[in-house]
Amino acid sequence: MKVIAHRGYSGKYPENTMLAFEKAVEAGCDEIELDVHITKDGQVVVCHDEILGRAVDGAGAVKDHTYDELRRMNAAKLFPQLTEFERIPLFDEYCAWAAGQPISTNVELKTGFYYYEDIEEKTAEIVKKYGLQERMMFSSFNHVSLLRMKQLLPECGCGALISRFGMGNAGYYCSRYGFEYYHPDYAGVTDEILESCRQYGIQINAWTVNDMEELSRAYERGYAGVITNEPLACREWLDKR
Ligand code: G3P
Ligand code: CA
Repeated sequence: MKVIAHRGYSGKYPENTMLAFEKAVEAGCDEIELDVHITKDGQVVVCHDEILGRAVDGAGAVKDHTYDELRRMNAAKLFPQLTEFERIPLFDEYCAWAAGQPISTNVELKTGFYYYEDIEEKTAEIVKKYGLQERMMFSSFNHVSLLRMKQLLPECGCGALISRFGMGNAGYYCSRYGFEYYHPDYAGVTDEILESCRQYGIQINAWTVNDMEELSRAYERGYAGVITNEPLACREWLDKR
């Protein structure tokens, strides 16, 4: 079972920053999950929220700021004791770094609330620039974005993100649209969903698994991976199996 570091090692370091990504690799993760948006000047940027202010010390929407403005904002707002400043990274910068790391990446296209023009094309171009296709998968709550990624990078896996109530007949749904993975809230996985995914050969990566009881359940159920804020604790637990 893969340990997938959610927004990097976000339980201990500022989410979606290069520091959190580096620390996730040090913790022994197999994969890094991150979120992408498009800036006012058309750049693919790594950040979770559409609207700034929670984890990044800024205001307004990502789409209304140029990258030059965003890069001056502090992405370490939630960790003032740990570090004074962390920058919002460009996806290009992440890929340049990830190309030299022993990990894969799960890119979540944040197109559920605002649909950024050409986000799939721009993201795919950067992945190709660094030759990362074999170590890259895509996820989104907007499954139209995944269908577009399949057209652009058919060799990359796609995971359908589903909110906490889950989706009946999930295996059939994912199989019909060519999604290799089902990405549920861990609390929304019923026996019916498990059986449906098993029947259609769809793998499950559940989020956000931070306690060892849930990790144990995920392991027993045969999930492909857990998306976690605590990659070190998950790695250590799995290494003891
Ligand atoms: O990939 C799972 C998870 O990241 C989806 O939710 O809000 O943390 O991006 P969120
Ligand atoms: Ca995400």
